[in-house]
Amino acid sequence: MRLGAALFWKVQRRGSKHVRCPLCGKECPDITRHERDQRKNIMADPTEVPVPESVPEIDHHPLATIAGIGAFDGRSVTLRGWLYNQRESGKLLFPIFRDGTGTIQGVAHVKSVPAEVFESLKGLTQESSVVVQGRVRADKRAPGGYELDVENIEVVHRVPETDPYPISLKEHGVDFLMEHRHLWVRTPRQSAILRIRAEIMRAAAEYFDSNGFIRTDPPILTPAACEGTSTLFPVDYFGDPAYLTQSGQLYIESTALALGKVYSFGPTFRAEKSKTRRHLTEFWMIEPEVAFMDLDGLLELAENFLSHIVQSVLKNRAPELVTIGRDPAKLETIKAPFPRLRYDEAAEMLNQAHKDGHLEAPFVYGNDFGSPDETWLSSQYDRPVMVHRYPAEVKAFYMEPDPKDPKYALCVDVLAPEGYGEIIGGSQRVSSYELLKSRIEKHNLPMEAFQWYLDLRRYGSVPHSGFGMGIERAVAWICGLDHVRETIPFARTLHRIYP
Ligand code: 4AD
Ligand code: MG
Repeated sequence: MRLGAALFWKVQRRGSKHVRCPLCGKECPDITRHERDQRKNIMADPTEVPVPESVPEIDHHPLATIAGIGAFDGRSVTLRGWLYNQRESGKLLFPIFRDGTGTIQGVAHVKSVPAEVFESLKGLTQESSVVVQGRVRADKRAPGGYELDVENIEVVHRVPETDPYPISLKEHGVDFLMEHRHLWVRTPRQSAILRIRAEIMRAAAEYFDSNGFIRTDPPILTPAACEGTSTLFPVDYFGDPAYLTQSGQLYIESTALALGKVYSFGPTFRAEKSKTRRHLTEFWMIEPEVAFMDLDGLLELAENFLSHIVQSVLKNRAPELVTIGRDPAKLETIKAPFPRLRYDEAAEMLNQAHKDGHLEAPFVYGNDFGSPDETWLSSQYDRPVMVHRYPAEVKAFYMEPDPKDPKYALCVDVLAPEGYGEIIGGSQRVSSYELLKSRIEKHNLPMEAFQWYLDLRRYGSVPHSGFGMGIERAVAWICGLDHVRETIPFARTLHRIYP
């Protein structure tokens, strides 16, 4: 079999320009680039999955995963997965299998496997599901370091030729891929993004769990707005109006006053009519809330939290970063402390940027930052920048005014670098009963629905602070993606609720 693999590469490389491309399967003028891309794709996929101490066996072969296959060098194993791609060269077959942990190239020579095995594999269609047995062989040339000399194969489900897998290895448009999202998630790049997402969520929860926070999840069905009435999703609650939650904040203010340091983690909803690369209608938010914490404490919490997440991704998902082509150098600088900027200073910088021709529109003082403003500001730093003390006018009703100048709110937006913009929004909360009541009136919010929230200021009110981080915004930034639609298994946007 060693001979087989060597032979294949020789045939491929034999001086001629007209050799079969592993990606197109045809004679291809772009073979060098395609081969390189193909190798990149395969190489970075395997993740370090620890080999379990006792390995289950199938037909006396240990059941292995592709990521953990190195532990079985020289032995026969069983793999369960799918046929990702196959190159055929006469008497030699080079199937590439994937199993959800990675991809590996197999080798089957007509003379080295039983005739029925060769027949099952030959012409096997993309994404057919298989149980394969084969001997693991270290091979320096193999992108993942190992190849599999196929010994046996059971085709669990053969994708029919008459109805082939719709996502071929050629380029497809984004609309087509989103329409086939249920299948698109199988490709190495999309799987890698989802693995990084899972690591971001794991590390985020880990940060709070190991720093004395208690997870208290708020309800998803709520009677009132938290973040403005224009983006509420209404629900008919047995004849009464209710809404899908925009943020768990108001509820975890209550649990923070009960437990001290809390966080919530769950789906949140905004009926955003905006069709931008940053907006989803359903997204996941992680929100800490801390009793007796002021804005300065919150800024420190935010920078330590973000540093922990990014460093965890670098440590635990390095191969996935390679798969998606994300330069780790861009993430290595993400360590606390982060730069802090008052809103007024940011406004001045934006005016100057406009004068210097970097921004089309002048910044109107007192406005919230627009997308181009955030993009420009965040691209000025190699780590997230924390913009604090916005004019109270443009911010939410629950934000505490700055005692030094009540025109400003004790709030922060954390803008990610490289133009990614806001990933975290937070503030110190109004602690005075009178002030909160007048804010609720001024914002035309239904006073009855907020009585319980006012109770938190009636009984033992304290200064307290918290923030919310949108998981998808964080994933887009950490992965360096153009759009949030690839950061979540099934994106919900203004124009998409299928599949
Ligand atoms: O800035 P926001 O609206 O703040 C709140 O909801 C506060 N109640 C959170 C708190 O203080 N506990 O939203 C927080 C974050 C944003 O910074 C952004 O990352 C994300 O949630 N986000 C969205 N992500 C995707 N699509 C949308 N439509 C989003 N809206 C907000
Ligand atoms: Mg915000």
